[in-house]
Amino acid sequence: MVKKVKKFIKTGTFQDGTNLPILPLYQQKFKLSDNCRIHLAGHHRSHAASAYYTSGLDNNQETLIITMDGSGDGISVAIWKGYNKKIELLNTFGSDASLAWFYGNATEALGWRHGSGEWKLMGLAPYGTSQPDRLKGFYPEFEKGNLSRPHVFKNFGRWNDHGANHYHGQDAVNLNEILKTMKREDFAAEVQRIVEEQFFSLTLPLLEKEKIRHLCCAGGFFLNVKLNQKLWYTGKLDYQWIFPNSGDSGLSLGAALEACFRFQPETINKKVDHLYYGPEYSNDYIKELLDERFLSYQYVENPSKIAAQFLAKNLTVGWFQNKMESGPRALGNRSILMSPLKKENKDIINAKIKYREKFRPFCPSMLYDKKDEYLVNSREEAFMVTSFEVKKNKIDKIPAVVHEDRTARPQMIKKEVNSLFYELITEFGKITGEYVILNTSFNIRGEPIVCHPREAIRCFYDTGLDVLVLGNYIIEKPVLKASDKIKTNAI
Ligand SMILES: [Fe+2]
Repeated sequence: MVKKVKKFIKTGTFQDGTNLPILPLYQQKFKLSDNCRIHLAGHHRSHAASAYYTSGLDNNQETLIITMDGSGDGISVAIWKGYNKKIELLNTFGSDASLAWFYGNATEALGWRHGSGEWKLMGLAPYGTSQPDRLKGFYPEFEKGNLSRPHVFKNFGRWNDHGANHYHGQDAVNLNEILKTMKREDFAAEVQRIVEEQFFSLTLPLLEKEKIRHLCCAGGFFLNVKLNQKLWYTGKLDYQWIFPNSGDSGLSLGAALEACFRFQPETINKKVDHLYYGPEYSNDYIKELLDERFLSYQYVENPSKIAAQFLAKNLTVGWFQNKMESGPRALGNRSILMSPLKKENKDIINAKIKYREKFRPFCPSMLYDKKDEYLVNSREEAFMVTSFEVKKNKIDKIPAVVHEDRTARPQMIKKEVNSLFYELITEFGKITGEYVILNTSFNIRGEPIVCHPREAIRCFYDTGLDVLVLGNYIIEKPVLKASDKIKTNAI
C-alpha cells in the first residue's frame, strides 16, 4: 500500500486494486522529481509532532504528549514521550476508547452535527447541572492511566454531502431518547463532566507515573477549552501546550515537522507564537477592488486608532489586515470586533451578524501585559484554546465576553506578534479603561472565515456590520447616524 500511495503522489496515476481516485485532466499533478523521497507519517504521530515540535521545549525538558481524536488510523488515544527532539510512543488505544466519539454522538443527539457542532455542546454545558449516572454505558472509562472499560461504538458511519463529511453514531439515537427526559442544558453539562472525569483518570496518573509536569496535546479533542482549563487548574502542570490548530487540519504541518526533525535533527524546536501564515493583500490591491465596485471609502493613516474609536462608540467592525490566520480561531487579522463593555453586545452580534444560538459565548482579545488584571491564575494563551476564570471585579466590566460560568477564552496579544491589533486594543483601552475587545471570526454562521477582501466586502454587505476596515481603507454603512461618524481627517 505504501508503494502505491507513493506512486500516486508522484505520478497521480491510478493503480488497480486500490481505491485511490483518478485525477481528471484539468487537475494539476504534483511535480516531484524522481529522486524526491516521500516519507509517510501516521495520523497520531503527525498530531504528536504538531504538538511537540511547536512547543519550544528544549532538549532537556521531558514532556508527556497526548493525542486524542474521534479515530485516526483506528486509534483514538495515543500517549507519547517527547525528549531530546525525539517522540517515543508509550501506548495507544483503539476506537473503543474514543471520548471524542462519545462527545460527537451527544452533539448529534442534541440535533447538531457530529464533528462540527461540539462547540455548541461545550457552550451550552455551563447553563446546566450535571446528572451523574444518566449516561452510563455510552462512553469508555479509564482508570489509573489505562482503559478500564472499552465502549464499542456500533454502526458508526460517514455520509458525504457535497464534499462535507457528516458522521453518525448509532448511540446518538439512544442518547436522544434519554435527552427527551432531561433538560438539554443538564444533558450537555453531564457530557462535559464525563469527558473531564475520564480524561483526568487517564492523564493525571500518567503524569504522576512518568514524574512529568510538561504536557503537549493535539487532536480535535483538545479544542475542548473547558477541559484544558480544568487540567491547568489542577496545578499538576508547569507547562501546558495545546497545538492551536489541533484538529485534523493541523495534520499536514505535523507530518512535515515529523519529517523535518527526523531528517534534520539539528532543527530548533521553536515555540509557535502566531498562526499568520495565510494570504495577504496589499493596500493597492484593496483600493483597486473597491474602485472596481464603485464603493465609497476613506484612506486612513492609522486604522487601529480609527477602529478603536468606532468600537468605543459601540459599533461593530469588520477587521481585515495582513496575513490570514490558520486554524479554527480568528486571531485579529480576519475578525469581527465589538466592545465587550455591554452585556447586550453579545445579542447584538448574534442578531445582526452571526445569526447563531444565543447561549454561545464570545471571546476576548486582550493585551498580554494586562492578563493578570482580568484572569485568575492564567498562563500565556495566544490562541483561544484554554479558558480561565475571570476576576470578580472584572466580570461586570467586560460582560459580553464572560461566559455563564464566569470564564473567558482569551487571546493574549503581544506587540511583537501583531502590532496593529495590539495598538487597536491599546487605543480602545485608553478611551474606555478596559484593554479588552470582543473578537469573533469574520464570517456568517456556517460559512468559512473570509480570506480574500472580496469575501470581506460580501460579508460586510450581507450582515448588519457597521464598519469595514480593509488594510488602511474604511467603509462605513450609510445608515450610520451623524453622531456615530468620526472625523478621520482630524486624527
Ligand atoms: Fe485526528
